[in-house]
Amino acid sequence: MSKRRVLTGITTTGTPHLGNYVGAIRPAVAASKSPDVDAYLFLADYHALIKCQDPKIVAESSRQIAASWLASGLDPDRAHFYRQSDIPEITELCWILTCNAAKGLMNRAHAYKAAVQQNVEAGEDPDYAVTMGLFSYPVLMAADILVFNAHDVPVGRDQIQHVEMARDIAQRFNHNFKSVFTLPQAVVDDNVAVLQGLDGRKMSKSYGNTIPLFGTPKQLQKSINKIKTNLLEPGEPKDPDTSAVFQIWCAFADEAERQEMRTAFEAGLAWGEAKKRLFERVNDEIAPARDEYDRLMANPGEVETILREGAERVRPESVALLDKVRRAVGLRPFA
Ligand code: TRP
Repeated sequence: MSKRRVLTGITTTGTPHLGNYVGAIRPAVAASKSPDVDAYLFLADYHALIKCQDPKIVAESSRQIAASWLASGLDPDRAHFYRQSDIPEITELCWILTCNAAKGLMNRAHAYKAAVQQNVEAGEDPDYAVTMGLFSYPVLMAADILVFNAHDVPVGRDQIQHVEMARDIAQRFNHNFKSVFTLPQAVVDDNVAVLQGLDGRKMSKSYGNTIPLFGTPKQLQKSINKIKTNLLEPGEPKDPDTSAVFQIWCAFADEAERQEMRTAFEAGLAWGEAKKRLFERVNDEIAPARDEYDRLMANPGEVETILREGAERVRPESVALLDKVRRAVGLRPFA
């Protein structure tokens, strides 16, 4: 049986937080260890430029995110681990696909539509601060996916549309020119928790409600203490199902521990105690990775080498694919 090609990217903006860990890093690292998976995991640093034009932050986030994945157990000898910007074929393919992707399709992309809607609500020009990068974002993502002929693309719900667009673009290309692309599908794991943030909304850098993944234990504890709770006193029964503390607990605990915590909540566990237990549980899981993270952050050359080797290993494939694509659209040697 041939292996499934599973590909996913992580946009390199912001400092990795617990939501990234639970929702993306941990499951992707686990999946990359499966014997019937050929994993492609990459740092979407070109995507980072869409959101962030501060070179220092772009560079720093990229380093932090690379170190986070490696520290969290990603084995670069097993999974293909590379940086988008080290694969020039991605941007080459992006242009060719741009010339074939319908503008009307892009008009419907959530990220772009949300930006326009925000502008309209604020009484601004609809395209205020909308770059071509934001508008064409799904084409770049299609290039990421199609350049390695991925079958499965594990993503969060917010990204399903983009994977469907990639599929659409591939289909159109295959039909109009030559069948060169595998049609990818989005894979959403409903068992993977979408972690709640400090304010109970989805943990997200755009809400500013995150718990950093690799801060010091003290910082972790401080963050956890900031999780919003209600005013119920110790001894008063608490509803686990509306509590971010419980929800985050569940993402780190096994089934028995979840039951235990549920019972404790209903028996009136104090918020302070619940947070203390949460801190200990999370810290136990991430402490070894934190040490490795700190080591990698202090050795950027090591991470650089891993990424370069990762790119070198996959590029023969992207080069071969681009050769086919160029020929298919008529960019051919004259003789
Ligand atoms: N846009 C994705 C996100 O913000 C990241 C990403 C970029 C990606 N390219 C990809 C995910 C290709 C899957 C496949 O989460």
